[in-house]
This record gives sequence, structure tokens and C-alpha cells, in this order.
Amino acid sequence: MLTSIRKTILTLALAAALPGVALAQTAANPIVIKFSHVVAPDTPKGKGAERFKQLAEERTGGRVKVEVYPNSQLYKDKEEVEALQLGSVQMLAPSLSKFGPLGVKEFEVFDLPFIFPSAAVLDRVTNGPVGAAMLKKLEPKGIVGLAYWDNGFKEMSANRPLRDVKDFKGLKMRIQSSKILEAQMRALGALPQVMAFSEVYQALQTGVVDGTENTPSNYWTQKTHEVQKDMTVSNHGYIGYAVITNKKFWDGLPADIRTILEGAMKDATKYTNAIAQQENDEALRKIQASGKVKVITLTDKEREAWRQALLPVHKEMAGRVGKDTIEAIYKESAALGFKQ
Ligand code: LMR
Repeated sequence: MLTSIRKTILTLALAAALPGVALAQTAANPIVIKFSHVVAPDTPKGKGAERFKQLAEERTGGRVKVEVYPNSQLYKDKEEVEALQLGSVQMLAPSLSKFGPLGVKEFEVFDLPFIFPSAAVLDRVTNGPVGAAMLKKLEPKGIVGLAYWDNGFKEMSANRPLRDVKDFKGLKMRIQSSKILEAQMRALGALPQVMAFSEVYQALQTGVVDGTENTPSNYWTQKTHEVQKDMTVSNHGYIGYAVITNKKFWDGLPADIRTILEGAMKDATKYTNAIAQQENDEALRKIQASGKVKVITLTDKEREAWRQALLPVHKEMAGRVGKDTIEAIYKESAALGFKQ
């Protein structure tokens, strides 16, 4: 106790004597990064955060300590972004659907239904100039975008089989806070309801909403199959993340530590994006094996009918996400031989 008081007094005295000189970070006095997120640890994002923690702590020899808070333990979706801006947490990985309220609407382009014909197109977008330009847009908001992390393609769920577009009529469907997702659900004849991720299970259980859309890994870890009767493997849209940090915090880090953390993030990103697909495949297998939910896989013809019903959303929402952004994604698709 006394020793720690002495240490604190010494630290304060040093700081007063050497204003402007950053005190050396040691394992006993580490820089703490609070990394908050809303999903379970056993998901692509949850595992990515843990991998970043491990690499950052190892490579800085403990000069950085990363505390991961999963499952909205600290904050729900909206609050966590505010907390990052206030500096109460240092790192987040919100889904790309959740940046609209922050004023960077372009990220919602990732929500357009059927815009990514394959994971390879997605990869070209996030790792190319389109993705980089979008991350840059965060800086005036006091946020640095560090990486894109994959989750995967989304499926629909409800308490009735969803095979045909008309099956959506009148269903209250939970969505993330994205205008594109609102337009998507309306195009299907459903009623979109924006809701925080941590509230979805209960809302489905009590009938506040009838259904939702998400990736298999999120469905499985949230036990959605316990409160839904039907699921359709539609892969109609995508969920991915931008890993972000507070700009003031990031710029204020000692340069050597920032470089190590950039490397740790790069490797954690490679890891996350390499496991995401298999995590989702595995989750879908487990959902099917649970026998609690009937899983429909759309035929090509059925899926094409969904696609035709949803493609008008691209045009409808071009004003929001930017015609150029949409065109740039079409171009990446075309480069891989896909027609829109
Ligand atoms: C959701 O709210 O459905 C997802 O964004 C949760 C997540 O972070 O994967």
C-alpha cells in the first residue's frame, strides 16, 4: 500500500518536473485499452478482440494492457460509440450498419441487399481504395478506423417459413440502426424495428418483434434458435465491422507503442478474417443440429425472386450512401466477372 502511494507521488512529481514528457510505460504502469463490444466472445469479432489483446500485450511486453468487454457488458450499441468519443473506452468494432448515427452514412452501403455477389468482391472493397476512403471519413469525428473485420452473410428468421417475398408481409423485423436496412425490410413488406443487439433475444421471446436477420454465429451464440421457429439461409446481406479507436488517444500514444499496436491489429485482422467463414459455417451446422428451428435453404430461383424484390433499394438509397460509392462497388464486382 505504502509502496504504491510512494510510487504515485513519485510519478506525479516527475510529471510536474517534466511537463510534456510522456512517462515511460512499464508493465507496472501500463497503458490500458478498454475494448468494448456487443457480441459473445465465441464469435469472429469476440475472437478477434481476444487475439488483438494477446498480441498487443505480448509484443509490448505488458506495457499495454487490453481489457475486452464482450456482450454489451459496458455499453449497448449507441452508447459505446459515445463512450469512445468521450474517451471512456479506447476501442470498439461496431458493425458497419451502425455508423449512420455518427454521421458517416457511406458505411451503410455495406447493408445494401445483394450488393456483394461473393466474399471475394467484399475483400476487394474493404482492402481497396473504397474501404480506405470510408475509414478516412471518421477522422473529423475524432475517430481513427484501424481495420475491417468480417462476420459474414446474413440469414432471415421468424416464426413462419420465409420462402417467398410475400411471406414477410406485416412481420415486425428487428434491424440495426441503418436506413438501408429499414428500406430493405419495407421492400419486403415487413415492418422494420431498430433495436440494440442486447435486447433482441427478449424481444423475440416476448413477441415485441416477430423476426430478425443476422449471421449464423450471432444467431447461435445468442440462442436465437430457442425463440424462433424458422430460419432461411438467404445470404441476402452482409455484417462486418470497422475496428475504431479514439483519435486523441491513438495520436497521443508513444510512437513505438503505436507501431506495435498497428502490427498487432494487422495480424488480429488476418486471423479474424480467416476464421469468420468457418465460424459461421460451424454455427449454422449447430443450429440445424439443435432441431429447434426449421432451416430453409432457398433454391436459386427463389433467391433470384428475393434479389429482384430488393435490388430497387440500391437506387432508392443512392442519395444516402452516395451513387459513386455504389458504382465503385459494382465496379469491383464487374472486375471479378459478376453482373449486377
Ligand atoms: C447486430 O446488432 O445485429 C450486430 O451488429 C451485432 C454485431 O456486432 O455483430
